[in-house]
Amino acid sequence: MRLSHLLASLSASLSFAALLPRQTTTPSTEFVGYLISTFSDPTPAVQWHLSTSNSPSAFTFLNNGSPILTSNVGTGGVRGVFLTSDGRREKWVLIATDLDINAEGFSWDEVTRRGSRGLVVWESEGLTGWGEGRLVTVETPTAGMAWAPSAVWDDDTSQFFIFWSSRHYAESDTEHTGTAMLDRIRYATTTDFISFSAPQDYLALEDTPLIDQEFQYLGQPDHWARFLKNETVNQVYQETMTQGLFSTEWTRVEGYVRPESPREGTAVFKDNVEEGLYHMLLDDYTEYVPFETRDILGGEWTESEYDGFPSGLKHGSVTPLTQEEYDAVWEKYGN
Ligand SMILES: *[C@@H]1O[C@H](CO)[C@@H](O)[C@H](O)[C@H]1NC(C)=O
Repeated sequence: MRLSHLLASLSASLSFAALLPRQTTTPSTEFVGYLISTFSDPTPAVQWHLSTSNSPSAFTFLNNGSPILTSNVGTGGVRGVFLTSDGRREKWVLIATDLDINAEGFSWDEVTRRGSRGLVVWESEGLTGWGEGRLVTVETPTAGMAWAPSAVWDDDTSQFFIFWSSRHYAESDTEHTGTAMLDRIRYATTTDFISFSAPQDYLALEDTPLIDQEFQYLGQPDHWARFLKNETVNQVYQETMTQGLFSTEWTRVEGYVRPESPREGTAVFKDNVEEGLYHMLLDDYTEYVPFETRDILGGEWTESEYDGFPSGLKHGSVTPLTQEEYDAVWEKYGN
C-alpha cells in the first residue's frame, strides 16, 4: 500500500473510531449487587429495588416501596426509567419517558401525535441526593413523542449517547393529524443533559416500526448486543455486533426472544459472579419476567426458575453496584 493510501485509510479509521461509543469498565471493577430502576403502572415514578448481595432474584423494594423520585414536570408521570453514569461512576443520571397513562382523558393516539418531546432528567453526584427533575426537549417539532430512553457513555469523547424511540409526522403536518412515519430509534449526544446535539435517526426501517431499544456491552471494545421491539408483532428481537454501535452490519438472531406472546421493554444485564451469564427482564404487558442465557451470541433465552422475583415491575434498567455504591444506597433508602 502506498503511503498516501495508508494515511488516508488510517485517518478514516481514526475519525470513525471517534464516533464509536466505548465502555471500558475495567474487568477488575468488583460488583456486589444489582439496582433495578423502574416504575409501576399505578405509580409512574422512579422506584428502586436492591438485590440481596449478588442474587439476581432476591430484591428489597427500597424506600419502603415509596418512589425514590416523582416527576413534577411535564405530564407528572414517568415510564421507561434508565439509570446511567459517566465512566468514572461519579456523575449519575436518571432519564425517563415523560408519560402518564393514568392522566384524565388519556389516549394512546393523542400521546403519540402530540405527546411529550422531552425526557425527564435527574442528576446526582453519588447515587443518593438527587437534584430537581427537569424536562429536556430532545426531539424536533415533527415528532409526536420521545419514549424509552437509554444511554451509553463514551470514554473516547467523554459524552453520553442518548437513544429513544419516536414517531414523526410530515413537516407540513404541524398539528400531527395525518399518517405518521414508522416509529424509529433516534439519538443525540450530550455532556450535561442540558444541551443536546441535533437528534438524528439511529435506526429507521422501511417496513417495521421499532421501539424500546436496549444495548448490552459484551465486554470487548465495539462488541454489543441490541434488543428491539418490532411493533407490528409486539415481539422483541436480538442482534449482535463486533464493529461498534454505529456500524450497520448487525447480525440478527433468528426469530424473537419469546415468540409466543407480546413482550416489550427489555432490560439486560451481565451476571456479577458467573462469567458468560446474562440476565434479561422482559415485560409481558403486565410486569417483568426474568430470563437468562449462557450463550449471549446465540441469543437463546430461557425463563429463569426462581421464586420471589418482585412483581409489578415495568420497563426499567439494571445497574451493577460496587460495595461503596451498594452501601450508600442501602444507608439512604434501605428499610
Ligand atoms: C416485524 O414483523 C413483521 C410482521 O411479521 C415482519 O414483516 C417484519 O419483517 C418484522 N421486522 C423485523 C425487523 O423483524
